Amino acid sequence: MAIDWEYPEGATPLDPEEALDLIPGLATQSELNEFEAINILEGSNWARRSTKIKRALLEQETLRLLHKNMFGQTWRWAGSYRKTQKNIGCEAYQISSSIKILKDDVQAWIKWETYAPEEIAARFHHRLVWIHPFANGNGRFARLATDLLCEQQHWPAPTWGATDLVKQSQTRTKYIKALQLADRNDFASLMAFMKS
Ligand SMILES: Nc1ncnc2c1ncn2[C@@H]1O[C@H](COP(=O)(O)OP(=O)(O)OP(=O)(O)O)[C@@H](O)[C@H]1O
Ligand SMILES: [Mg+2]
Repeated sequence: MAIDWEYPEGATPLDPEEALDLIPGLATQSELNEFEAINILEGSNWARRSTKIKRALLEQETLRLLHKNMFGQTWRWAGSYRKTQKNIGCEAYQISSSIKILKDDVQAWIKWETYAPEEIAARFHHRLVWIHPFANGNGRFARLATDLLCEQQHWPAPTWGATDLVKQSQTRTKYIKALQLADRNDFASLMAFMKS
């Protein structure tokens, strides 16, 4: 089975070996998108019931479990950190320590009110997606993780441009541009996007 991969702007292409780890037999990208969407919906329902998510969202083990529940029926590497280098993201061997530092940072930002809640949410989302812990699904995973953080903190829920960001659109272009500005430490556009 070989899918003709179509990547929207800012997506992370899979390595050939990672692409072989697709569990269901699917023929097209749109079948894959649909299969993943169902898997993700089940994963997000699981996340809302999980006591682990409630108690320890920012722990590595919990974040990996979240990715596993979102993509585990689709990809064999779901929930495992990537081993390959991508067009964005830290070196693969730095993922674990980067996630640990992110947890400490977010907890400190919340405790000391270093930034306003919406800026903490934007910084968390950007750093998580920039670390790019997994072979794929990082955007969708990091958006859900950010939604869950906001729910737990009783912060306003991000609306992410009120569009399906998986497909190419003007809204997706805006989202990717906002992330690129955040790469340069400018979070204003991302904060605006997250509540648009
Ligand atoms: N310059 C950048 N800085 C930080 N994050 C970025 C940048 N460019 C892209 N991203 C993030 O990487 C994601 C793409 O990574 P990946 O393909 O692993 O995620 P996905 O969930 O499969 O895709 P998507 O979220 O695009 O549907 C984008 O959605 C975006 O969140
Ligand atoms: Mg992708």
